[in-house]
This record gives sequence, C-alpha cells and structure tokens, in this order.
Amino acid sequence: MSATTASLHSRIDQLARIQSEVLGAGITREVYTPAYGEATALVSEWMREAGLETRLDAAGNLFGRWNGSEPQLPAIWTGSHFDTTLNAGAYDGVLGVLGAIDAVAQLRAASFVPRRTVEVIGFAGEEPRFGAGCIGSRAMVGTLQRSELDTMADRDGVTIAAAMDAVGLDPDRISEARLDPGAVAAFVELHIEQGAVLEQRGIAVGVVERIAAPHQLRLTLTGEARHAGSTPMALRLDALGGAAEVILTVERLARDSASGTTVGTVGTIEVEPGAVNVIPGAVTLDIDVRDVVLDAREQVVSAIHDAIDEISSRRGLSAELREMVFDRPAPCDPQIVATVRAVCEELGTPYLDMASGAYHDAMVLGAQVPIGMIFVPSRAGLSHHPDEYTEPAQLDLGVKVLAGTLARLAA
Ligand code: GLV
Ligand code: MN
Ligand code: MN
Repeated sequence: MSATTASLHSRIDQLARIQSEVLGAGITREVYTPAYGEATALVSEWMREAGLETRLDAAGNLFGRWNGSEPQLPAIWTGSHFDTTLNAGAYDGVLGVLGAIDAVAQLRAASFVPRRTVEVIGFAGEEPRFGAGCIGSRAMVGTLQRSELDTMADRDGVTIAAAMDAVGLDPDRISEARLDPGAVAAFVELHIEQGAVLEQRGIAVGVVERIAAPHQLRLTLTGEARHAGSTPMALRLDALGGAAEVILTVERLARDSASGTTVGTVGTIEVEPGAVNVIPGAVTLDIDVRDVVLDAREQVVSAIHDAIDEISSRRGLSAELREMVFDRPAPCDPQIVATVRAVCEELGTPYLDMASGAYHDAMVLGAQVPIGMIFVPSRAGLSHHPDEYTEPAQLDLGVKVLAGTLARLAA
C-alpha cells in the first residue's frame, strides 16, 4: 500500500469524528453548520498538502485546483460531498472527495503533468438538510434561485439563507456560484455503490451508465384533532389514518411500476399534535419516487396524486401537496464511460456496467457537463446507515481507477 492510500483511510476516520449533532449511532454532519465548517477547513488543508490551490465559491462549494499546462482548455472536474444525512456512514460522498485528493497525490508522485486543469470539488449540501439535496451543485447549474433560499428550511425551520448567513456566506451572492459549462470538459465522481449489486456479483468496480433521479413531494393531510377517548370512530377525521393509507399506496404503486425499477419511499412523518390521547389533526410526510426511466416514474407519481385525492375525500381530510424536487435521470457520457472501462481493462480489474439508484451531484451537473461515475462495493449494500463500510483495498482500487481516468481525461 502506498503512503497516500494509508492516509486516505486515516483521513476518512478523522473526518468521521467531526459531527454537527450527535443523534445516536452513525455520523451526522449537516451542511452550513460549525462542524461542516471545521470539516471544510480540514479538507482544505489536505487539498493544499496535495498541492491544490483552494477556494470556496458563493454556495460554499470547496474547490482544489491543479493547474494544467494548457489552463485555457476546459477543465476536468472530480469530487463529491462531505456533508452527511442523519445517522450516516463514513464513506458516502467522503470517498469521492478524499479519494480525489489521493488520486491527485498519486498522479503528482508519478510525475504526471496534466494538460487540462484538474479541480477537486467538495459540493456543499448534497444531502437534503433543507428538503432538497444537492444545494451546491444546483447553485452551479443555476437551478437554485435566490428566492428559494428563503423558502427552503430544515426540520427546525432554519432557512438556507439563514444557515448560509450563520457561516459567513452571503445568500445574495448565490448566482456567483454559476459554472461556465464551456469551461468544464468532464466531471467524474467516485462513490460507494450504496447497494449490494457489486458485492453479490463479486466485482470490485462499477462503471455507472445512468443515474436514477428523484421526484419528491411533501404532503400535508389535515383532519381534526379531538379527544381520543370521547370521539366515536364514526365521527373522526384522523389525518394519520389517511397518511397510513398513503404510505402503503406509495409502496404498492412503486412495486407495481411499469419499469420494474421504480422505488418509492416515505421517509419522514410529522404528526400534530402528537399526543397519545389526541386524534391526529395534521400529518406532514415526504414522498420520494425514483427511477432511471422518467415515464415510469411519472406514471407512479400521477397515480399517487390520484390516490391522495381518493383517500382524502373518502376520509374528509384536506390535502396539500408541494413539489419539492423534480430531477431528470442523467445518462453518463459515453466517452467518459469508455475511458473508465479502458482504465479498468488496463489495470486488469473486472468491472460491471450499472445504474446508480442514489442521486449524486453528478446527476445535477449532468444537465450541463459530460459526467461519469465510478462505484466501489458497499458491504451488505448498506448506506445511509451507521454500518456503511467498504474494505480498504476496495477504496484503494476505486482511487486507482479514478486516478487513471483523470490522467486520461486531463492528458
Ligand atoms: C443521496 O444521498 C440520495 O438520497 O440518493
Ligand atoms: Mn447520501
Ligand atoms: Mn453521496
């Protein structure tokens, strides 16, 4: 093992100790918190150790730049995110940032001189602290508006604007984070698979061909909060009873989807007033539907709309549905895919062509920039889970494939 890969493993462990909130098991490090700032400082230091020139953009995206010998050429971008979801693991996103720093260090150690500039990016807020994820990359492609910074809020009601302000970022300057698509030749993201396909097949590298995209809705059902003891069953408007029907319907419609690849989840639920002796008067829940096949996903979403109408009118509830996220599945660029495959072949590493079920900053950038992704296995397919794990040798191989890919793209 080279010195650089040993430092990758210990850096992953070091970063895992920086948490914004201790919520029990796993790691919670949400964007625009003091802990995220601490992590940003540490990652910046590691970038500088690898010879990268660091800067933060207006959205808090961290860049580490390695100037090419022909810096006027469109650059090669790589990276991922180092914020986490709640009770998360140590590898989601982190591998793509620290692994990219390591790949640069390896290329430098091998005296590689890039023709194109290479930039390593730690995207701010890939995880959905504020309802929608990929805040930093959405700001880059111009789909995060200034007005949304005042309307999108976290579970404590803190808006993006207030959170940015608290860490010294000016929300009024968000448009300055816009990327110039002509200045980026490729974006390659190394990531853990977050599923069990590679492990089951016994293959160490996944070459991503397309990324599934989410359509997310926030539903509020309102009934009537009344005494749980003195209100007969026939006289109730129980919002949670309606929500329960909606949750099971989401599951059934996703399972029966025409593509066979749709997934549907209700991952949050808030009950008001939330007392054992009060009939739930209002319930808010988040629905997440994803697929690599847009039409199939949209058929499921439209069937969910119909089901909510039917359930709420039958139960006398009012329903308010808010669109939170509408993303398009992103195909990877055939030339980048071919480059990653060629690197695997050169290394004698078997690989598997696959789709990504999770979304990534690459999905967002894919609207404007050619993208590619490299996957390494996740033990037991676990991710967004404290037990998320990838073996050190598998991390190293992923970094090697990334380094080879960057070298080819930047040469
Ligand atoms: C990203 O974390 C996702 O939810 O796919
Ligand atoms: Mn994630
Ligand atoms: Mn991720």
